[in-house]
Amino acid sequence: MDALVAGIKSSHIDSVLARETERFVATHPRSAALGQKSRAHFPDGVPLHWMTDWGTPFPLFVAKAQGASLTDVDGNRYRDFCLGDTGSMFGHSPEPILRVLAEQGGHGLTYMLPTEDTPAVGELLAMRFGLPFWQVASTATDANRFALRWARAITGRPRILVFNGCYHGTVDETFLRLDADGGAIHRPGLLGQVTDIATVAKVVEFNDLEALEAALADRDVACVITEPALTNIGMVLPEAGFLDGVRRLTRATGTLLLIDETHTISTGPGGWTRAHGLEPDFFVVGKAIAGGVPCAVWGFTAAVAQAMKAARARTGPGHSGMGTTLSANALAMRALRANLEQVMTPAAYAQMLAMSEGVERGLRRIIEVRSLPWHVSAVGARAEFVCGPTPPRNGTQAAKAMHGPLEAAIHLYLMNRGVLIAPFHNMTLTCPATTIADVDHLVATVAGACDALISGVES
Ligand SMILES: Cc1ncc(COP(=O)(O)O)c(C=O)c1O
Repeated sequence: MDALVAGIKSSHIDSVLARETERFVATHPRSAALGQKSRAHFPDGVPLHWMTDWGTPFPLFVAKAQGASLTDVDGNRYRDFCLGDTGSMFGHSPEPILRVLAEQGGHGLTYMLPTEDTPAVGELLAMRFGLPFWQVASTATDANRFALRWARAITGRPRILVFNGCYHGTVDETFLRLDADGGAIHRPGLLGQVTDIATVAKVVEFNDLEALEAALADRDVACVITEPALTNIGMVLPEAGFLDGVRRLTRATGTLLLIDETHTISTGPGGWTRAHGLEPDFFVVGKAIAGGVPCAVWGFTAAVAQAMKAARARTGPGHSGMGTTLSANALAMRALRANLEQVMTPAAYAQMLAMSEGVERGLRRIIEVRSLPWHVSAVGARAEFVCGPTPPRNGTQAAKAMHGPLEAAIHLYLMNRGVLIAPFHNMTLTCPATTIADVDHLVATVAGACDALISGVES
């Protein structure tokens, strides 16, 4: 029987996948050869296993990228709406970052000592995000880990709380999920997990203040960590009053609140936090914050800074369990400063947001005209088409709208016609270099993919 998957016949998904796979193989011989060669020393031919997650028969090898454009080793050009899954959200190799690379390249890259960029970066971060104190890490994963460790040190509480369907990097304690009966389980697929995460974390649904209140009532949670909108399971937007409720309940129970803006920095120059007046205790942003140079920052309030001192005095000297050798290296600090001063400007955001509105409008129209049971959600320069009829309220509902083979067929169809979107779900990002022509091409190609899937024949 030909089952329907989000309004599409499964046999059509299979035929599009088969056709597009064949086409990809025919047009990417050099990627195929490099993949084969790399397998000698890299499992599956890639230096990071996520690089095989694109639904392609072998990894796509890149020659170069600039602005919103990426070229593979076979000379195929792509309009890039993935942008390194946010790492290059301000475009590939922005001019000010190129200058930093040239200048700093001759002055040493990492000394494990501060440079004269330090006070300037502190001021830029404080002004932009509204928190007075900062630390710098190399990845958002690390920034989250360090902030959570501090939260435990400050409060003396063992647990953290996450929302179902969240992703905050590879932070062990965040890999807790709800099962169908509302029990806490490990995220499927987790490797090498030796401790029961439920002993150090709790999980409740996003947009469920009642469940949050119950979970915080024991006062054993050091910190709630959340994105303002969940962006890693399709997209789940906060309902009116939800984030205010999270703040109210965390304050009432002496629980700290970490807002992770690594993806929602797409909202505007100060992230969702500034746009909506959130008041986190900790604030994290990574990935694109230094224009593509590995870097992340985490900020905290004066009260947290004070509490850190007290915690340090209680613990006494010794290794804190936080920090990595390359964190806040000279190159990262310089790139961070240049990015904050010259790249993440209001003008850049105005362009990104305008282009993303075009993407959003175009995608909505595609769905409407074809009466597909899909919808579109957006957070600033990040727009997502979700193959489910209504916007999900929580992670459980969002997970039901994710359809692996359907999404893979769409992604492959787009890649074969010069469009990259994020491989994990259907996320598109615009950068300051994205043009109307890029947006038009993306929309026309998604329309073509939908028609091919609906009809089952090449369109
Ligand atoms: C919201 C959020 N926080 C943190 C991270 C971790 O970033 P990284 O992998 O650069 O450490 C991610 C990665 O996707 C993310 O989406």
